[in-house]
Amino acid sequence: MRFDVPAGVSPIDRLKVVGRPVARIEGPLKVSGLAAYAYDHRLADAHLVHGYIVGSAIAKGRIDHIDLADAEAAPGVLFILTHRNAGPIGMERSVIRSKVLAGPEIDHYHQAIALVVAETFEQARAAAALIRVDHSRKTGDFDLVAEKSGAPLAPSFRGPPEAAVGDFEGAFRSAPFQLDETFTTPDQSHAMLEPHATIAAWEGDKLTCWTSVQLLDIGTSDMASALGIPKENIRFISHYIGGGFGGKGFVLADNILAALAARALGRPVKVAMQRALIFNNTTHRSATIQRIRIGAQPDGKIVAIGHESWCYNVHNGWPESATQPTKVLYAGANRMTRSHMARLDLPEAGHMRAPCETPGMMALECAMDEMAIKLGIDPVEFRILNDTQVNPENPSRPFSQRRFVECLRQGADRFGWSRRNAQPGAVREGRWLIGMGVAGAVRAAPIFPSAARARLDRNGIVTIETDMTDIGTGSYTVIAQTAAEMMGIDIDRVVVRLGDSSFPVSPGSGGQFGAASSTAGVYAACLKLREAVARHLGWNGDDIEFADGLVRQGWQSVDLGSTALAGELIGGDRMDYGELSQTYDLQTFGANFSEVAVDSLTGEIRVRRMLMVCSAGRILNPKTARSQVIGSMVMGLGAALMEQLAVDTRFGLFVNHDLASYEVPVHADIPHQEVIFLDEVDPIASPLKAKGVGELGIVGTAPSIANALYNATGVRVRDYPLTVDKYLRAAG
Ligand code: MOS
Repeated sequence: MRFDVPAGVSPIDRLKVVGRPVARIEGPLKVSGLAAYAYDHRLADAHLVHGYIVGSAIAKGRIDHIDLADAEAAPGVLFILTHRNAGPIGMERSVIRSKVLAGPEIDHYHQAIALVVAETFEQARAAAALIRVDHSRKTGDFDLVAEKSGAPLAPSFRGPPEAAVGDFEGAFRSAPFQLDETFTTPDQSHAMLEPHATIAAWEGDKLTCWTSVQLLDIGTSDMASALGIPKENIRFISHYIGGGFGGKGFVLADNILAALAARALGRPVKVAMQRALIFNNTTHRSATIQRIRIGAQPDGKIVAIGHESWCYNVHNGWPESATQPTKVLYAGANRMTRSHMARLDLPEAGHMRAPCETPGMMALECAMDEMAIKLGIDPVEFRILNDTQVNPENPSRPFSQRRFVECLRQGADRFGWSRRNAQPGAVREGRWLIGMGVAGAVRAAPIFPSAARARLDRNGIVTIETDMTDIGTGSYTVIAQTAAEMMGIDIDRVVVRLGDSSFPVSPGSGGQFGAASSTAGVYAACLKLREAVARHLGWNGDDIEFADGLVRQGWQSVDLGSTALAGELIGGDRMDYGELSQTYDLQTFGANFSEVAVDSLTGEIRVRRMLMVCSAGRILNPKTARSQVIGSMVMGLGAALMEQLAVDTRFGLFVNHDLASYEVPVHADIPHQEVIFLDEVDPIASPLKAKGVGELGIVGTAPSIANALYNATGVRVRDYPLTVDKYLRAAG
């Protein structure tokens, strides 16, 4: 069915199951260890063997000679895949540009040069250490700062690389208040808990991969291209995914090398990428350099706003287009955004944790704070003054819903903003300096076509099948809630089957589009199932009611399961989208508040409280949504204070490629977190009146912490992460 007029009243609006804080239905499986992740899958036959990836020790150059003799003679070794025996690997892939197997050319550090396959994991790992490689090293470009000036404009998924409205330069020059600052954000790694892992098994010319991939339909397409076989011959199964954050969007070395080795060997091959390889072998978020200029009138109205961003990627890679939030968040008649991308020989940069908005707001929302302070206007009020209800680059395009101002006001009220001392460095508790910071949040909320199948059996159990994934987000649960609401049954009468590419196609998990898109597909399938039930009963009319496990019309009432006594009833459909999502700009909004304490003697920075208020349409499940947002806020804290891949610009690698040295927040870093969802529905966004919310949680967190650090100390650090050394240097 097609969604092209705003959602009217539907069975969802009963809110008997949807909108309730239902605990994750797969939770017991996860906490008891029964949820089988890719690597956990057990094949019936015992011929499963293990692959171990060998990464390149140089970043750029050529393999002159690769000596496999000792490795091949090592105990248990069955096969070693290299460029010499792999055959061609197709490169027509949707997003990823890098070769999964180097040779003879090497394109980046830790690019795979071999997959050693042995009877056991330990044998494969031991043999991998016996491979000897002679390379010639070539010089490469590894330094964004050095390549910045020549970096061309680069279009992104989100649109053209530059936009101009009015006369930015002129308006900025003549503005009575001007801000012109440059911010930098570092390279970051997804650092999900479950490593990239695949079990690949062939049956004739058909391949099955138990794998950890967020987007199964794109994954099977890309795998088909890589292997040169029809997509129909490939099945991906990702029942559970232990975090992805964008890093598992696409097929990478583990999938493709496992499939190639399994084909060559005629036995199923299991590969988990070792943690130390993930940081350089897979994708990461590009560092950015961002210049922001804001011109304002004394009354606080922005008259000019400009945002230029530089990132890097491999040839033809996609940019981290950090100018994105500036295109939508604040009013201002004269505007300019430009997004540049340098080409470097570092590993490929990819989507990560709200790409574009996350680094973009780390700059924009600090610049807004600095401008408010210059103007002598409260930072909450300064943002409210510059609110807009239409896309400021394209005023004929309204937002489907935008309650940004309410997020700011409610957040200020709940956080106790009125107790903030606007004078930096003025609040002390013993040796601790205390400060509060605010940041706005905006993140696009796109929606994509999604299909599902709903099956009713004689016991009244409704089974939903779609290739949607659950990457730890709660997909199983919100889909079960949707089906239960639509069919008028308890949630324990619903079985949800996800993560299998043989099921109807969804867009998968990413870009905070998963929940709204996939539940809309389930909604469409359930409408079809309701029709099938009515048809079976020979009823028609629009007064048929599905409630309490019954189907009713007038005085007639039958048990839902009884309609399937003669055989399963099935409804399948796909939700498609018309002009509505073109006419309106679909975005989610929020406001983040942080309180930090800074040790006046050591410079240690501790976050003490965090609050986020979200305007994100109907919240399908406040419990799983809250988990999403607080998890995102944890990532935002990581971005603010610690996460950083250290680039060795001489040898072209990320030096800290493990979880000991790539620091992410631990429990002791996370303070009291609170999340408020504005009570709203967005009938333009989706049939369930819902939007995404997971990625909204990250975007405003880091700048709110940076702004709180300034308020606590009077020290502005514009170079993330805000580590003690940078703070102390800036403090003088
Ligand atoms: Mo997200 S970076 O779109 O998985």
